[in-house]
Amino acid sequence: MTEKTEARKDFDKEAAEWDANPGRVKLASDVAAAIIREVDLSRELDVLDFGCGTGLLTLKLQPFVRSITGVDSSQGMLGRLQQKIESQALDNVHTQFVDFEKGQGAQGSYHLIVSSMTLHHVPDTLGLFREWFTLLHPQGQVCFADLDTEDGSFHGDNTGVFHLGFERAKLKQILHEAGFCDVRDTTATIMKKEVAGQGERAFSVFLMTATRCEV
Ligand SMILES: C[S@@+](CC[C@H](N)C(=O)[O-])C[C@H]1O[C@@H](n2cnc3c(N)ncnc32)[C@H](O)[C@@H]1O
Repeated sequence: MTEKTEARKDFDKEAAEWDANPGRVKLASDVAAAIIREVDLSRELDVLDFGCGTGLLTLKLQPFVRSITGVDSSQGMLGRLQQKIESQALDNVHTQFVDFEKGQGAQGSYHLIVSSMTLHHVPDTLGLFREWFTLLHPQGQVCFADLDTEDGSFHGDNTGVFHLGFERAKLKQILHEAGFCDVRDTTATIMKKEVAGQGERAFSVFLMTATRCEV
């Protein structure tokens, strides 16, 4: 088992080759399909994709919503998404540079916040959920995917990995603490991946949905 580390991962260095990994592209497609199953998407929704990367998930959801804003702390990743927005002449997709860990919050108000495979890169899960709460309209929803608890094999190099997956029950508690209700989970996909010295391994990816509670 490899250990998680405190250093951050340099996503700028990975941006150019990010979409060349078919497993990663399939994972984003599977998560998008799960979100489409679990949430009533409509052309009345303004959506935020937290940790959007190159926009693999953002662009899968774009046709179903009024607008979608991809936020990320990597200019390299956002640059790749911006290229896609321009080459496809998309007028309902926006980007914002946001580094949650450095206290730079996102701008705007949203009906839905989605996120895929980003939560394990953020040390303060409760703080992030509280930030999401403030960005949502009343009755707004979050719907995010990440790894179920794993043994550290998923990344190999765990630089910038602050959580080796998540226990769903613990995440539900944290969502309630941040002010969310109607919390539910499902399995978005099982990702098969070659792990050095172990052959092919299967990693379970959950999708968790919750609503901003109004008191
Ligand atoms: C594993 S990638 C996932 C990207 C994309 N969601 C996908 O599925 O292809 C995690 C993304 O989260 C971003 N990220 C990590 N920490 C962040 C933070 N504190 N604030 C905003 N974005 C962050 C990274 O730059 C990276 O693009």
